[in-house]
Amino acid sequence: MKINANIFVLFSAVLTPLCLMAAHEQRAQFLPGQVWPDNKGVHINAHGGGVMLHEGVYYWFGEHKIAGEAGNNAHVGVHCYTSTDLYNWKDAGVALAVSEDPASDITKGCILERPKVIYNKKTKKFVMWFHLELKSMGYNAARSGVALSDSPAGPYKFLRSLRPDAGVWPVNVTEEQKAALKDIDKLKGKSFSGGPNSETPKYPILARDFTDGQMARDMNLFVDDDGKAYHIFASEENSTLHISLLSDDYQSRAGKYVRLFEHRWHEAPALCKYKGRYWMITSDCTGWNPNAARSSVADSIWGPWKELGNPCVGLNPHNKLGPELTFGGQSTCILPVAGRKDAFIAMFDIWCPKDAIKGVYVWLPISFEQDRFTITWRDAWDMSVFEK
Ligand code: DGJ
Repeated sequence: MKINANIFVLFSAVLTPLCLMAAHEQRAQFLPGQVWPDNKGVHINAHGGGVMLHEGVYYWFGEHKIAGEAGNNAHVGVHCYTSTDLYNWKDAGVALAVSEDPASDITKGCILERPKVIYNKKTKKFVMWFHLELKSMGYNAARSGVALSDSPAGPYKFLRSLRPDAGVWPVNVTEEQKAALKDIDKLKGKSFSGGPNSETPKYPILARDFTDGQMARDMNLFVDDDGKAYHIFASEENSTLHISLLSDDYQSRAGKYVRLFEHRWHEAPALCKYKGRYWMITSDCTGWNPNAARSSVADSIWGPWKELGNPCVGLNPHNKLGPELTFGGQSTCILPVAGRKDAFIAMFDIWCPKDAIKGVYVWLPISFEQDRFTITWRDAWDMSVFEK
């Protein structure tokens, strides 16, 4: 008995700390495409995410997925993790919870994707925008959700959902597009494929949605140096991107937007500013399946935007996928690294739609050249790459 007790004491004294150490193992590098444990040793659950820096702490917000195909719908909400070095992430819990109320726009079982959070200095509020699909409507609702919090990790309170920019024409609208308002009755009951096709461009989708608001699916937010914030989203049946100015409090619309890459079906927009120019990564539009990434640049956020081609280089050894399929991933965010000049990380998701919780993350450094940028695969890397 005595020996057993001693063995028990030995086990608890030596092995328990060892197990905890494994869970808390500190990382000093990124391992793209691999399971990424949080401070509890659990794979980070923040898909389609974005990272916000506030007072020296990074906050990673993303879709909390559950196991199986059910995980493609929202059963929990938006998960938040915190970090000070970007390698090691602490679970900060659910920042925005889906609602138990069947009448809520964000009721459990809705689709809630690509949440992004920005801080408004004037109101001192943290503002979250996300792509929202109402429960049991597939991807037809194409709405944007807004939630607010007084503290960065939440809890966030759902404010409303909307179809953006109702009753407003884009700054680059043509007379022909406006005149199409008289033809929209012809579109009643017609459905469109959300992926590239030759039919959609024949119809005046912009005019169709003029009165009730434009469709908004894959999205991102971007705050410029002057504090103005923009909502970038796949609109018009996914065929065309919109960049739209938010109100001063970031909670609604300012009533000014531009259409870009008409009928090019860009998804997954992620934006940054480098040397005074705006740089964007997007994807093609193929559902959960990977495709070739795209890149573009503009001198003004209002355009003109110029497409630059696929920025990816190299091979992901874990799935043997290269640039033609973005290493198996899809863009979600560009993260400026604090305290390092011109250091940006491109964040991608490798989706796992059959078992959504198993999706992994690919974070890679961006290399800027004069008129383009590249994103080269690395099995493992750390911040020293920005010193070269
Ligand atoms: C691609 C988008 O980028 C994802 O966020 C998600 O909406 C899937 N399509 C759904 O098929």
